[in-house]
Amino acid sequence: MSDCLLQVKDLKIEATAYPPGEPPRDITIVEHVSFELEKGKVLGLIGESGAGKSTIGLSSMAYGRGGVRITGGKVFVNGRDVLQERPNGLRALRGREVTYVAQSAAAAFNPAKKLMEQVIEATLHHGLMSKSEAQERAISLFRRLGLPKPETIGNRYPHQVSGGQLQRVMTAMALCPKPDLVVFDEPTTALDVTTQIEVLAAIKEAIVDTGVAALYITHDLAVVAQVADHILVLQGGGMVEYGNTDHIINSPTEEYTKALVSVRSINHKEKTGGVSVLSVNSITARYRGTTFDVLKDVNVELAEAQTLAVVGESGSGKSTLARVITGLLPPTSGTISFNGRILPAEFEKRGRDDLREVQMIYQMADVAMNPRQTVARSWVMNR
Ligand SMILES: Nc1ncnc2c1ncn2[C@@H]1O[C@H](COP(=O)(O)OP(=O)(O)O)[C@@H](O)[C@H]1O
Ligand SMILES: [Mg+2]
Repeated sequence: MSDCLLQVKDLKIEATAYPPGEPPRDITIVEHVSFELEKGKVLGLIGESGAGKSTIGLSSMAYGRGGVRITGGKVFVNGRDVLQERPNGLRALRGREVTYVAQSAAAAFNPAKKLMEQVIEATLHHGLMSKSEAQERAISLFRRLGLPKPETIGNRYPHQVSGGQLQRVMTAMALCPKPDLVVFDEPTTALDVTTQIEVLAAIKEAIVDTGVAALYITHDLAVVAQVADHILVLQGGGMVEYGNTDHIINSPTEEYTKALVSVRSINHKEKTGGVSVLSVNSITARYRGTTFDVLKDVNVELAEAQTLAVVGESGSGKSTLARVITGLLPPTSGTISFNGRILPAEFEKRGRDDLREVQMIYQMADVAMNPRQTVARSWVMNR
């Protein structure tokens, strides 16, 4: 019990729902959730999207997102009931004792500030280290997390690194102040498979090295099996099964957990292509102000009813190709043909129908959508 860092007892969390045409009402999104986490251990929170993982993770910082309220139960961090903390106590808790690695690093970073400044900000704010000590620690964390050019990557802005790299920078930011607990909220979901394994190993190593405890949130049992000592399976805001990793993976008792364990990758279905829809002809592209080509003479043909997978490690140019196709980044040479016509390179010069017919679904849905519009309105505006 003395080693118990985080203790959650019979947690209940409610939120305000806004059904269209009806008055707002309270709904319960988490109920009867209890678990414990010892120092230096990792607890995996697993469940499908909407199961309540992030909501529970944030409760360890006594935090509820907009409209979300913790209405029952207790949350102890280092033996203190954090739900009773005053604002001063909460400020000492958040960013110092407990830190958070968000699912979407892109939404978490300030686009106008360089990475290093943001990585060491909380550490300096809490007066935990001098600026040079914090910078040194950040650089060593960058190195440990496998980031390229660890000495200078901190001079870049968030948009100047890939999505996967930004996620690793955020992990460095969370570890910088030497917290007792880190909440990792799907930190590797945005990474390619090879990087995911590397970063997971790095996170696990960092946890062992620093003695930090972690709540590791994911929807992927294969991921959590690699890092967690214990696993809590969630569904619809409630506990399904809770036990040590070996037990959950190798001899689950609940049907839901068994189903999670037996999930196989989606079957590949071959489709035969007909008429060519899209052709990418000798595309070379680079970003403004840089001196190297991200894409070099790329040629791709896509026929009707076909799906083309673009595969490559983090930073290899997958999103850049999508930007060129949708007109967001005009290429330095080459053309994009769509339904037999060459599309204008710049998105501003494309017609309304072109914009409607060639669409992009972004890696980070939460940053791509206007937070001031309801989901329904965003949909209508796109028609
Ligand atoms: N701010 C909010 N207001 C109302 N309901 C919310 C809010 N945030 C999350 N929810 C609801 O709470 C449930 C759990 O969400 P979440 O914790 O984000 O799930 P997970 O992280 O497992 O995907 C979902 O049903 C979601 O719709
Ligand atoms: Mg979540």
